[in-house]
Amino acid sequence: MHSKQVLFTLMTAMAGVGMAADASDVHQLKSDEFDAFITDNKLVLAEFYAPWCGHCKALAPEYETAATELKDKGIKLIKVDCTEESDLCQKQGVEGYPTLKVFRGSLDGPTPYTGQRKSASIVSYMVKQSLPAVSVLTKETIESFKTSDKVVAIAYFNADDKKSNETFSSIADSLRDDYLFGAISDPAVVEAAKVKAPGVIVYRTFDEPETVYDGAFEKDAVTSFIKTTAIPLIGEVGPETYAGYMSAGIPLAYIFVEGDEQKTKFTDGLRKLAIKHKGKINFATIDAVAFGAHAQNLNLEQKWPAFAIQETVKNAKFPFEQDKELTIEEIEKFTEKFVSGEMKPSIKSEPLPEKQGPVHTIVAHNYEDIVINNDKDVLVEFYAHWCGHCKALAPKWEELGALYYNNKEFAEKVIIAKVDATLNDVPDEIQGFPTIKLFAAGKKDAPIDYSGGRNVEDFVKFLKESGTHKVDATEALAKSQEEAPAEAESAGKAAPAATEEKTEEKTAEPTAEEAAKESKHDEL
Ligand SMILES: *[C@@H]1O[C@H](CO)[C@@H](O)[C@H](O)[C@H]1NC(C)=O
Repeated sequence: MHSKQVLFTLMTAMAGVGMAADASDVHQLKSDEFDAFITDNKLVLAEFYAPWCGHCKALAPEYETAATELKDKGIKLIKVDCTEESDLCQKQGVEGYPTLKVFRGSLDGPTPYTGQRKSASIVSYMVKQSLPAVSVLTKETIESFKTSDKVVAIAYFNADDKKSNETFSSIADSLRDDYLFGAISDPAVVEAAKVKAPGVIVYRTFDEPETVYDGAFEKDAVTSFIKTTAIPLIGEVGPETYAGYMSAGIPLAYIFVEGDEQKTKFTDGLRKLAIKHKGKINFATIDAVAFGAHAQNLNLEQKWPAFAIQETVKNAKFPFEQDKELTIEEIEKFTEKFVSGEMKPSIKSEPLPEKQGPVHTIVAHNYEDIVINNDKDVLVEFYAHWCGHCKALAPKWEELGALYYNNKEFAEKVIIAKVDATLNDVPDEIQGFPTIKLFAAGKKDAPIDYSGGRNVEDFVKFLKESGTHKVDATEALAKSQEEAPAEAESAGKAAPAATEEKTEEKTAEPTAEEAAKESKHDEL
């Protein structure tokens, strides 16, 4: 055991003693306790975290306070250390820290916590979650309820129809953060409704104000009806709607507009086109002033108005050429060409590196070759040139790369690589920088997200355990560190490979404006 590890163990032991004295109201759970705890408690907020994560540390005191306040209401707050319980976190689809989810007495269908990370917000959000998701309406309350939010779904069923009542409650439970739900069983109102019971009417403040659903009263069908109806003919891309568009399963056409006048011009002008392709392409405006930085993800320059179609499933981008004037007619032509399948997606890539070194440089044009089309375990760092954590990782990544690259046997089985994901289109969904993924030989279609520590030893252990080839570089690492402890540390900085230098040139801090835009774009 390293002396550092001994110290760490001691400190955790001591922290444990301290915690017992303070009696935290946050339940720290291990994998084998998790399932039972979730199913035994009606409402649980779960935090999946890593001890080194700054946002998690900032959340900790707020989380503690909220846990204490919610204790009497029977609402439990738990946390799971993903560096310890990595299998559980992977099963829960945790991709960034902290990840917060709301469970309601079942392991199925947890919903993401979308409130703010302050104790008061956590308390009010969770109390709201504990109230029924469906408001029971009467003939006195129904009219005002119909217009009390942008999207309101009301179910009409008979008082003895328990099954429809339960179905609708479970739909509302899973979508309670997105829309408002009401139900009515007053015979007179149900009789007079525009839908035969059991049925649903969605009321909206945009497009057609009332849309009737009279198909089978089943969870999946009704859910998909409500979700589709809630998307306006020409909506708006923003922090609240972005995820919905990305998961809609059909392409999204973005219209970047600056100001209300442009917005109205395009929403009115493109109505016909949007109706024609309804259900096949979503059309939406996006506020170029607030979210202009998103244009770069679509390979557009920040010049407005602008237009692009994104194939959300394959993440392929089709930007409208920006040296032409953007008119309604041009968008119509462009869209038809896209639909016909004649159009080639645009691919953003840095130039191919002239030669590869201990850390392979991936760009969009060699991604398939280095990552997918081979029989090696490929560990990839997705980074951004302006990201501080990535810079801190760079020398360690070089040391790691050298460890495998300089050993003939290892080099045949393992590649350490990196890609600037802001300058190259990659098929992976990257939620933060750096993101590290292992594309193990023979399992390239199911890369493993790395969530462990960021020391060379940690990566070596991970490759040994999770790589298909089980390459064990533990001894080689110990040897190299013994031989030249100082050299190993400085190698990455003093003598970078040819490809490394190229990348370094671009390593400029973002300007304040760029940083601000980046953080906006992150919010999308
Ligand atoms: C649905 O069932 C619940 C629980 O039995 C009941 O309180 C509620 O009134 C029912 N909803 C309607 C609209 O009748």
